Amino acid sequence: MSAPLQLAIIIPTFNERAHVPLLVARLATALGDTRWEAIFVDDNSPDGTAEAVRAIGRGDPRIRVIQRIGRRGLATACIEGMCATAAPLVAVIDGDLQHDETILPAMLAALEGDPALDIVVGSRFVEGGGTGEWDRDRVAKSALATRLSQRVLRVGLSDPMSGFFMIRTEVFRSLVPQLSGIGFKILLDIMAAAERPLRFVELPYVFRTRELGESKLDHVVALEYLIALYDRRFGRVVPVRFAMFSAIGIVGVVIHMAVLALIHLKLGAAFLAGQVVGTLAAMTFNFFLNNTLTYRDRRLRGWRQMLDGWVSFCLVCSVGAVANVGVAAFLYDFRYGAWAGSALAGVLIGAVWNYALSSRFTWGRY
Ligand code: GDD
Ligand code: MN
Repeated sequence: MSAPLQLAIIIPTFNERAHVPLLVARLATALGDTRWEAIFVDDNSPDGTAEAVRAIGRGDPRIRVIQRIGRRGLATACIEGMCATAAPLVAVIDGDLQHDETILPAMLAALEGDPALDIVVGSRFVEGGGTGEWDRDRVAKSALATRLSQRVLRVGLSDPMSGFFMIRTEVFRSLVPQLSGIGFKILLDIMAAAERPLRFVELPYVFRTRELGESKLDHVVALEYLIALYDRRFGRVVPVRFAMFSAIGIVGVVIHMAVLALIHLKLGAAFLAGQVVGTLAAMTFNFFLNNTLTYRDRRLRGWRQMLDGWVSFCLVCSVGAVANVGVAAFLYDFRYGAWAGSALAGVLIGAVWNYALSSRFTWGRY
């Protein structure tokens, strides 16, 4: 038998075909005679990234690809790749050459040299590191996100947003059931999931400028970041989806009142007419917002699905409204005069009803 495998490199990719051969060559140079393998995790990129990896893999069995069909997500891609190796140490690195692969041997040496160490993190924010040619806007956003996560999750890392690190595979594997897998930030997910704080070391690197292709970081990614933070802190008390659904519901109430005021007070229509139009406006607004945010992972598309969804959502919410009013009236009779408590209980019941049924009938059918 040949010498045992030391290290696996996990490379999440989406549309990075041009980078594949360059990255493999750089890894080979950086890692020298280390026994390593590289696992690309590609979400079926339309540019043929997976095939580019297979082409190399045919000549070099250290290189393989997990091609995921019908799935997207950086964090889950990293998790699946890390679960797919037999190596005792596993590193995650971006596929676009922005992370400095030349520090991999130092990461490896740190973990192999100190059995008490769990993880080594590539950091842009320790002495010697840097963000390269980022514009001021991105530096500011990144700093804000970093501070937020340090506050909310209390991890001591200087660069918790880093996507470049090496960890003991066994430690990682023991944490997998606790990971949320939401969004972009797998390192943060790992650090926050650990009950016993992980022992880490940070090594500096300079984030390189992307030369080809484009970044996948956008507004949805930013939102997912906030969702992941929320989920980690409060998710067990109030599930993320229900929290989003309720927040959107509150905005819906504001819309309802605004439309009612406009129609009834300004345009002089009857109160009932104003109520009907206000309710419809709020339900329609809520439907669209829930479809793009709360249920973005099972989003309804095309006019047919949208129409179906809208109708079922309005039906569900109408029954929810009846339940809301009914429960409130019952409680009010029962505990005479407790108007505010009765009304709030009604609202809560209505919200849970709408949430539970719309997740089943509006967003659970396709
Ligand atoms: N499989 C898979 N699925 N890979 C993805 C996906 C996805 O949905 N989205 C992005 N990737 C891959 C990209 O192809 C790239 O190899 C890597 O993940 C990082 O994505 P970029 O789009 O290049 O991210 P970035 O440069 O804006 O963000 C980087 O900076 C952050 C620090 O602020 C990443 O390195 C992050 O990991 C890092 O935390
Ligand atoms: Mn990048």
